[in-house]
Amino acid sequence: MNFLLLLSLISLRTHGTRTGPDGGWALDPDPVQELDLDLVLEPDLSAVLRRVDPRFLSVTIDASLAAEESFMALLSSSKVRTLSSALSPSFLRFGGTRQDFMKFKPQRRKRNSKNPGSESCQQLLPWVVEKQLKMNWTLQQQILIKEDLKRKFKKISFTEVTVDLLNSFSSCCGFNLIFGLNALLRTSENVWNSSNAETLIKYCQSRRYRMNWELGNEPNSFEKKAGIRVDGHQLGLDFLRLRELMSRSGFYRDAGLFGPDVGQPRDHRTDILGGFLQTGAEAVDAVTWHHYYVNGRDTSLEDFLDPEILDTLTSKTNEVMEKVKLLSPTKPIWLGETSSAYGGGAVGLSDTFVAGFMWLDKLGLGATLGLDVVMRQVLVGSGSYHLLDENLDPLPDYWLSLLYKRLVGPEVLKVRKRSGSARSKRVRTYLHCSNEKSYSRGSVTLISMNLNQNPSRISVPLVLSSSSLEAFILQSDRLDSRSVKLNGRLLQMLEDETLPDLRGTRLPPSDLLQLPGFSLNFFVFLDVQAAACL
Ligand SMILES: *[C@@H]1O[C@H](CO)[C@@H](O)[C@H](O)[C@H]1NC(C)=O
Ligand SMILES: *[C@@H]1O[C@H](CO)[C@@H](O)[C@H](O)[C@H]1NC(C)=O
Repeated sequence: MNFLLLLSLISLRTHGTRTGPDGGWALDPDPVQELDLDLVLEPDLSAVLRRVDPRFLSVTIDASLAAEESFMALLSSSKVRTLSSALSPSFLRFGGTRQDFMKFKPQRRKRNSKNPGSESCQQLLPWVVEKQLKMNWTLQQQILIKEDLKRKFKKISFTEVTVDLLNSFSSCCGFNLIFGLNALLRTSENVWNSSNAETLIKYCQSRRYRMNWELGNEPNSFEKKAGIRVDGHQLGLDFLRLRELMSRSGFYRDAGLFGPDVGQPRDHRTDILGGFLQTGAEAVDAVTWHHYYVNGRDTSLEDFLDPEILDTLTSKTNEVMEKVKLLSPTKPIWLGETSSAYGGGAVGLSDTFVAGFMWLDKLGLGATLGLDVVMRQVLVGSGSYHLLDENLDPLPDYWLSLLYKRLVGPEVLKVRKRSGSARSKRVRTYLHCSNEKSYSRGSVTLISMNLNQNPSRISVPLVLSSSSLEAFILQSDRLDSRSVKLNGRLLQMLEDETLPDLRGTRLPPSDLLQLPGFSLNFFVFLDVQAAACL
């Protein structure tokens, strides 16, 4: 009911309309003040500001899922497959702290499949096994958390099973797999020992698995994690070595290599990046770094709604970009692993509705700032920042990601924002062309969020206000709820293989958009004919 009331307010029109010359803005002061506008948008629809990778929103699986190889079978759950497929196209990065403690130990068991790489996508996990695995995972998580806290990581062996499951999962779901290799296998000269990677690459090639590669996770903290110090210069040389192996293999000559997956800039950390770029830039197809806003063990609900914390992404991104522009100006820059809170996420926050503000803002701001891919830690498994919970059911950030995929295209548009009130810094907006797969060319999608408790109002110019639109309003009864409503209806799977219809609400043209308090919103302007999107 509340929701319908708010929607009806949206079509409310001002008395004094905008009459700016040359399409600019002139506000009639009185009625605007009456309406208490929070934001006035001035989009430029003539040209694209920049274009991100079509797989901009991508996901990760933490390597800790393979610490006990049996848990990798969770990737064959039919529910996980259904939910994941809906997020394609996307990269799937397999990596994280434990990748640098993993060794490939092939079992060389007999294969019954004569056609490598042609396993059926229908070979799914029996329900009984899935149930057991989910139960066992709870216990396994405790063990992993203890290891994380003590920073003592057990050596892990993995077999063909892990690689086979990762491959069938990604190829069946339409993901591009990125496999993170262990960079802590080193010789007495502290040079990367590639012999285990060669064995793995040979196996993958024999199976004709389409894969991309990484080497090392957050090398800036190797010393803390393993007592081994590797400088950026040497790491760059190690990447050149890996690139050489890939070229030699033939099969992986044109595969992607990404790195160095450094932690976010923090004093000495950027030094690794600089050194790495000097020697290794030519080896990689994109420069990757990791970003988290807060420490999961020391944060609060307020942090998740704090615009100043959201803005920290800007300075960190700029810092990385400056370094890359200087040494390797044409390399794309990716967030190779990112989420709300490090240390596995913030319990009771990172897996709830409120996490969506950090996630959606990162997607919007990251695309505007110049990032080309943003990989969400994690799709399923480790920590509380996952998109699917321990029962493999979708959490609010899953639905948010799915809507983003369906509604938002890769073309970022420029939009000037003028604030009309003190609360306006708690209203955040980003503009893209709409996803062409869902909407006709020329339509645009406004991403917006209201970090205020009370409704906020955005004014849009004639070019948008004359268009019919669809609204997708995400809200929740509680900020720390694990469920979310789209246009007033609770989102949930209909069955393990069926997603609900994610329908928007058609609204009449209006020059005012009303955002409910604490809401995440997409507005698709259907008949704008934006030149930038045609
Ligand atoms: C779950 O754990 C129990 C006890 O360790 C074990 O016997 C069982 O095989 C495990 N189930 C699966 C599916 O791995
Ligand atoms: C590299 O690792 C392999 C396998 O563990 C080992 O046999 C070999 O001696 C190592 N090479 C160097 C140069 O350390």
